[in-house]
Amino acid sequence: MTGELVNYNSLGVSSMADELRVVTSEDQLREIVVRTTSTNVPLTVLGGGTNVVLRKHLRGLVVVLGLKGIRSLPEGVEVVRLTAAAGENWHHLVRYSLGRGWYGLENLALIPGTVGAAPIQNIGAYGVELAERFVSLRAMDRRDGSIREFDRASCQFAYRDSLFKPKEHSPENSADVDRYIILDVTLLLSRQPRPILGYPEVKRELMNLGVTQPTPTQVAEAVIRIRRRKLPDPANCGNVGSFFKNPLVDEMFARNLLSRESELRTYPAERRMVKLSAAQLIDLCGFKGERRGRVGVWRRQPLVFVNLGLATGEDFLSLAEEVQQKVFARYEVTLQIEPRVLGEP
Ligand code: EPU
Repeated sequence: MTGELVNYNSLGVSSMADELRVVTSEDQLREIVVRTTSTNVPLTVLGGGTNVVLRKHLRGLVVVLGLKGIRSLPEGVEVVRLTAAAGENWHHLVRYSLGRGWYGLENLALIPGTVGAAPIQNIGAYGVELAERFVSLRAMDRRDGSIREFDRASCQFAYRDSLFKPKEHSPENSADVDRYIILDVTLLLSRQPRPILGYPEVKRELMNLGVTQPTPTQVAEAVIRIRRRKLPDPANCGNVGSFFKNPLVDEMFARNLLSRESELRTYPAERRMVKLSAAQLIDLCGFKGERRGRVGVWRRQPLVFVNLGLATGEDFLSLAEEVQQKVFARYEVTLQIEPRVLGEP
């Protein structure tokens, strides 16, 4: 049975899969993995579909991961280990943990998507990355349906990146591209509140709320308010959050660039690199609020592209290309698309 995917991706684009199945158990998934591998049928796995750009046609079978369940294991008085199945909603997990007095996920409130997708791009916001709370995950190997456990080091987390995120420009990694399907994720949370307020916007928001010594729940509240104000709700206006990564450039390049373009904001990053603000680059190129047919650049955060109605994945990619070209022409900086692009060109 062919499957229309419009309801399975937060961009809200129409896309047709040769076959579509929603999977609710690991046994079902193993059966599908073994069958598609032995018959050479392409298999695409979707979680919440909140970080993908779907082209019009997806060959083979598309599986929507509906694995559910949350388990906790106290570890002494201080910390709790929480294991959540891949198909659980991420924000639900954040609220679930806060409700039980287990802290550490508050800055990651309201990020769309599922638990299983969270490690792939190492979700991060307002000063916290998933990697900092991560213990391990279980994943199914597509080659034979076996299950393997990955600890933090073997996941190779970096900014919006992990072992599980296919790399466009490294064919040597292609044997492992998409090799593993994440089944569940284990996190380490604390019973001691330790609010992380390094992000000035969060501090400001809490001040506006009249809070000086915030509880983790109040931090989550502040983050939710900021996100609601800045980012469009995918339920009303199709989007995938940031469409590009913030570019990392080396220090020398950044110095040269700043000597020409002094208004650019820079942030120190790992390995003596410098992070630029993609939002600012796009903004300065005049794209804020711009529309191209059925797609547009969000007026309050130009890093976010929105579906203005009946847009296709191809519409988004052509807007992305226009933005990339203009930013490159002006700053010689290449913006990398952050969500995964799936389907036949
Ligand atoms: N900015 C502009 N013009 C604008 C909006 C923002 O110049 O119209 C500048 C801001 O002044 C600021 C900078 O852009 O200096 C950063 O803005 P923001 O706080 O929104 O952060 P971001 O770097 O644009 C990243 C993540 C978001 C995450 C926020 C908060 C990436 C690709 N994006 O955005 O994550 O919520 O930080 O931590 O790293 C996502 O990945 O989908 C996502 C939404």
